[in-house]
Amino acid sequence: MKVVKEISDIQDISDYYKCTGKRVALVPTMGYLHSGHTSLMLKAKDENEIVVVSIFVNPTQFGKNEDFDKYPRDFLRDYHICEKAGVDYIFNPEVDEMYKKNNLTSVIVSDITDKFEGKLRPGHFKGVATVVLKLLNAVKPVNLYLGQKDAQQNIVIKRMINDVNLDVNVVICETIREENGLAMSSRNIYLSEDEKNKAAALNFSLNEGKRLILEENIADSGEIKNNISNIFKERVPEFELQYYEITDNEELQPIENLKDYRGKVLISLNAKVGSTRLIDNIIFKK
Ligand code: PAJ
Repeated sequence: MKVVKEISDIQDISDYYKCTGKRVALVPTMGYLHSGHTSLMLKAKDENEIVVVSIFVNPTQFGKNEDFDKYPRDFLRDYHICEKAGVDYIFNPEVDEMYKKNNLTSVIVSDITDKFEGKLRPGHFKGVATVVLKLLNAVKPVNLYLGQKDAQQNIVIKRMINDVNLDVNVVICETIREENGLAMSSRNIYLSEDEKNKAAALNFSLNEGKRLILEENIADSGEIKNNISNIFKERVPEFELQYYEITDNEELQPIENLKDYRGKVLISLNAKVGSTRLIDNIIFKK
């Protein structure tokens, strides 16, 4: 496994493999890797000859008062995790390599970035779309691996790829969870043991929403949201449920009445505990 720091070097490496008929995959990450990331790497390795993992804590997707400075970083630990997973290259550029001094360009995906995470974190998806496009242009993969955990991010990235005619296939991999159902996340390190235990309420409330829709046949989204909000108040009063939204999985349009809705339902939520915000989601067919 090799570590590459320069964009022009990873471009040359990718071109070389393309010439020799090998498939190159990209798994973009911000490091501090866990089993969720590893599952993406393993699937990528299964389906491609060459796997590139990018490790880059992208400053432009963090708000001014967010955790860019304290975001966990441990390159040596990440290196060993990648090596064990059979990764071929780590692309680990410095900030001034990714964002050259005279950089004037960013990518804005409108509408679908105004709501949910985008509303809570203004400018966040502009940073995500911009860095992912830059990473794709650096690594030039045929396949891009993303985790279901970040549902809105996936929708934004897919939309950006489609809108700018990028030739890359997106593979979404299932969310990997702790035993109690908490979705794995680099930010879980901010939680105490007690908070981690209580955070089981997130996954529980998503499954409960699914059950109310599919088994109890409740069609009114408002009623489901009330139920869930009560669950949070009773079980984990210290958690602040910031949103619990029932939408389609492409345009993120709210589904007010589920009675005649047919297709994929996405329930996504954000809950805040202390200063840490946790997100999770569930997708199922109706
Ligand atoms: P990061 O949070 O490091 O996540 C990198 C990738 O791993 C994302 O596609 C994310 O959905 C996936 N992932 C995270 N937790 C997961 C879990 N528990 N199970 C399965 N997959 C999981 O998302 C980002 O970084 C950044 O925004 C990035 C796309 C790299 C752009 O900077």
